[in-house]
Amino acid sequence: MSMIDVKGIHKHYKKDANVVRALDDVSLAIDRGQFVAILGPSGSGKSTLLNVLGLLDRSDKGTYHLDGRDVSSFSADELAAIRNDKVGFVFQSFHLMPKTPAIENVELPLIYSDRSDLAGLAMKALDRVGLADRASHIPSELSGGQQQRVAIARALVNTPDLILADEPTGNLDSQSGLEIMEILQSLNGEGATVVLVTHDPELARMASRRVDIVDGRIARDEIIDERRDARAALGALVGA
Ligand SMILES: Nc1ncnc2c1ncn2[C@@H]1O[C@H](COP(=O)(O)OP(=O)(O)OP(=O)(O)O)[C@@H](O)[C@H]1O
Ligand SMILES: [Mg+2]
Repeated sequence: MSMIDVKGIHKHYKKDANVVRALDDVSLAIDRGQFVAILGPSGSGKSTLLNVLGLLDRSDKGTYHLDGRDVSSFSADELAAIRNDKVGFVFQSFHLMPKTPAIENVELPLIYSDRSDLAGLAMKALDRVGLADRASHIPSELSGGQQQRVAIARALVNTPDLILADEPTGNLDSQSGLEIMEILQSLNGEGATVVLVTHDPELARMASRRVDIVDGRIARDEIIDERRDARAALGALVGA
């Protein structure tokens, strides 16, 4: 059974007399443990697809089974509960609370869980992304790459099965971008399923599968045989 199984999903936006077919009959199955890179031109539907997969948005048509459960019929509250439990999001523009220390940004998803020791768990997540020594810094006191690592710590603090990253390296220099890719690859190595939207074909080669979207449809879907290693690429860059 695939972890993610969407069939025939459509997402159309009506604007004046026009209809934008953001997703147009997309079917996609993703197995647990896969690392899928999604590529495509601007406006092709990548973010729309990621938002549907992450239960932030619903499709107009089609079915979605997540871990065998038909989530298309779930209520908003049920979706929020699953999202909080299973899914970690990372966005291009970090989405951190600006006046709040890193550690409290990371604690946020835990506030809705029944865990205790929020600070301890948040510290562990910050340590995982190499930022234990920046826990008290607010976002403006961190570099872009560090802010994105805080966002990843926030995404992984709930130990989600599924990590969805929408152009997480889009605002970063190449070294910081590779550091993010290294973290995503190692989380994937520990069992997380990762879906990454990127414009960069070189970064896509670090995934285990590449899916291309054009005009809201899947144009290409292939397994990556010779997967690039983010750590090695980072070493080559830093060593150069
Ligand atoms: N709320 C909305 N109302 C109307 N049209 C929308 C809305 N959201 C997205 N669209 C349209 O749907 C299409 C797909 O948008 P989407 O954000 O998924 O593209 P994308 O592939 O993520 O692009 P980019 O690479 O620029 O981020 C676009 O043509 C966009 O203009
Ligand atoms: Mg987008």
